[in-house]
Amino acid sequence: MSTQPLLGRTALVTGGSGDIGTGIATLLASAGADVAITYMGHTAGADASVEAIAGHGRRGTAIQLDQRDAASIDACVQKLGDDMGGLDILVNNAAWNIGIPFPDLEQLDADIWDRISETNLRGPYLLARAFATMLKSNDEGRIGHIVNIASTGGIAPGSSSIAYSASKAGLIHLTRCLAVAMAPDVAVNCVAPGLVEDTRMALRVPDELAQRIRDETVLGRVGQIEDIAAQVLTFVTSTSISGQVMAVDGGMPVAMR
Ligand SMILES: NC(=O)c1ccc[n+]([C@@H]2O[C@H](COP(=O)([O-])OP(=O)(O)OC[C@H]3O[C@@H](n4cnc5c(N)ncnc54)[C@H](OP(=O)(O)O)[C@@H]3O)[C@@H](O)[C@H]2O)c1
Repeated sequence: MSTQPLLGRTALVTGGSGDIGTGIATLLASAGADVAITYMGHTAGADASVEAIAGHGRRGTAIQLDQRDAASIDACVQKLGDDMGGLDILVNNAAWNIGIPFPDLEQLDADIWDRISETNLRGPYLLARAFATMLKSNDEGRIGHIVNIASTGGIAPGSSSIAYSASKAGLIHLTRCLAVAMAPDVAVNCVAPGLVEDTRMALRVPDELAQRIRDETVLGRVGQIEDIAAQVLTFVTSTSISGQVMAVDGGMPVAMR
């Protein structure tokens, strides 16, 4: 394979101001793609990500997006079109979580449920819908790609909260539904990380659960940001994989399905 298999391609990584999003955006740029990222409020993270993209000699741009808001999604499509001219790869990486132990049903109220569900499940759907025309319309007979970043919490119950687990289970099934709906023009796949150390999200996983996850990995280490980015690259350089979910978690038996 060429060392730059994505030359001439354009990618959008949502949540590119975050820990994993920065890793994905940087690897896609190193593989030759021009990369737009989105951020919601963390401008320093967005700037660092764009700088990393530019460091690989690729075009980078940061777009402000609140994916709970339909008008913000419309503005993102407009700006992506203006800045990049089209889209080959959408990585639905942005998400939100909060640590609420599963038994604490009282704390997980309707507002928190809605924020998690609208960010982690409805947002990726609305983005896929909004970018469908661009993803389907490259004129060189290439397929477009969507990669959704879910969680092993969407495969087996256990994560920062019930709402987060349920949203990621929904995102995994959305992956399969979109793979059917957008075929044959767009391949849709999913990466499901387990705990990823030293990330803002991992810090919101209750301590006891984080330790249990570490103890459960058969490889003795949880998945790393680089492993997740490498799996995204594998999906977007394939022409014959769609509707699949890959857990990147150090090998947790509960996620081996
Ligand atoms: N870290 C882990 O241990 C872990 C484990 C399993 C799965 N994952 C998944 O991996 C992905 C990346 O996680 P991460 O650890 O990199 O998280 P992170 O550092 O907290 O980044 C989250 C990103 O999502 C953005 N975001 C939050 N709410 C948003 C909204 N309403 N609209 C648009 N963007 C929004 C944030 O924007 P701003 O910061 O700019 O506000 C940030 O860019 C997520 O899908 C997460 O569920 C992570």
